[in-house]
Amino acid sequence: MEDTVKQEDHFNEKLEKGDFIEPKDWMPEKYRKTLIRQISQHAHSEVVGMLPEGNWITRAPNLRRKAILLAKVQDEGGHGLYLYSAAETLGISREELLDQLHTGKAKYSSIFNYPTVTWADIGAIGWLVDGAAIMNQVMLQRTSFGPYSRAMIRICKEESFHQRQGYEIMVALSKGSAEQKQMAQDALNRWWWPTLMMFGPPDAISSNSADSIKWKIKRETNDELRQKFVDRTIAQVEYLGLTVPDPKLKWNEARGHYDFGEIDWAEFNSVVKGNGPCNRERLKARVGAHKNGEWVRDAATAYAKKQAAKAAGSLVA
Ligand code: 3HC
Repeated sequence: MEDTVKQEDHFNEKLEKGDFIEPKDWMPEKYRKTLIRQISQHAHSEVVGMLPEGNWITRAPNLRRKAILLAKVQDEGGHGLYLYSAAETLGISREELLDQLHTGKAKYSSIFNYPTVTWADIGAIGWLVDGAAIMNQVMLQRTSFGPYSRAMIRICKEESFHQRQGYEIMVALSKGSAEQKQMAQDALNRWWWPTLMMFGPPDAISSNSADSIKWKIKRETNDELRQKFVDRTIAQVEYLGLTVPDPKLKWNEARGHYDFGEIDWAEFNSVVKGNGPCNRERLKARVGAHKNGEWVRDAATAYAKKQAAKAAGSLVA
């Protein structure tokens, strides 16, 4: 018992000093569990997030756009792999993580359960969804768990390209023909509110935030990041000559922030529970991809075993 108290004190001292907690350090079981929960859901979000955009690779309007979209979707897959590796350092296997996704036990960001109905949605996703992800991930670069922070630093370097390419699509459309501008406005209408939901439920009902702030996993709360995102995005909407689908959006001089309308948390909960427009399609695609990729994993494992045996053999010889 005494040992645990000493270890807990040491853990808290490290947090206090702003030192990273590393995989081999002692950590409270709840700290480890909430990190596995958050990092794995982050990884699942990256991998499922490839699907809505992947849907437009064959239909990109020109070769340049196709090449950019291919690069972005490939980046997201890589982000997922970094994050699965960070989660594995906490003592959970890749198989277990993927099984949690494929059986619906694990969550992923609700935003990816919405369809991409026009090319403008690809612009809105890069601009708004990756813009919101950047807001959250820049904060997570300062998270207390070492492998997660290092993964975030690497991922954030690529996210700015994701956000800029999306905004460039929105600029091209909003400065184009009347039909193109309307496409951009329709995409903003579809993606604005689900993007605000990405930051999580209000702080008052967020079940994990108190611990995550205490353990410096989160350095800013859901509402703080959401507010920052709204404040920074409105000028971009105005440059595009578009309108945010929120009649209550208004600059509040006294607060120094934008006031905005109520988010539909019933919609959020329904989508998180699996009743979004694309939940079933997304999970079916992920389960199918995993099954189709089985032969690649088997071949890679067999090759690795053969190489290891060869190396061991040469050591003995
Ligand atoms: N979608 C689905 N579930 C969500 C959610 C969302 N947008 N926001 C919150 N939830 C879930 C939480 O997972 C939690 O459920 P759980 O306890 O079963 O895990 C519940 O709602 C209550 O939310 P909390 O605020 O208490 O949960 P957290 O403290 O974990 O905060 C979070 C939620 C801010 C999303 C936090 O988990 C986080 O920062 N995660 C890492 C970032 C991330 O996952 N981003 C997702 C997008 S990745 C992306 O967009 C990639 C880009 O390149 C395209």
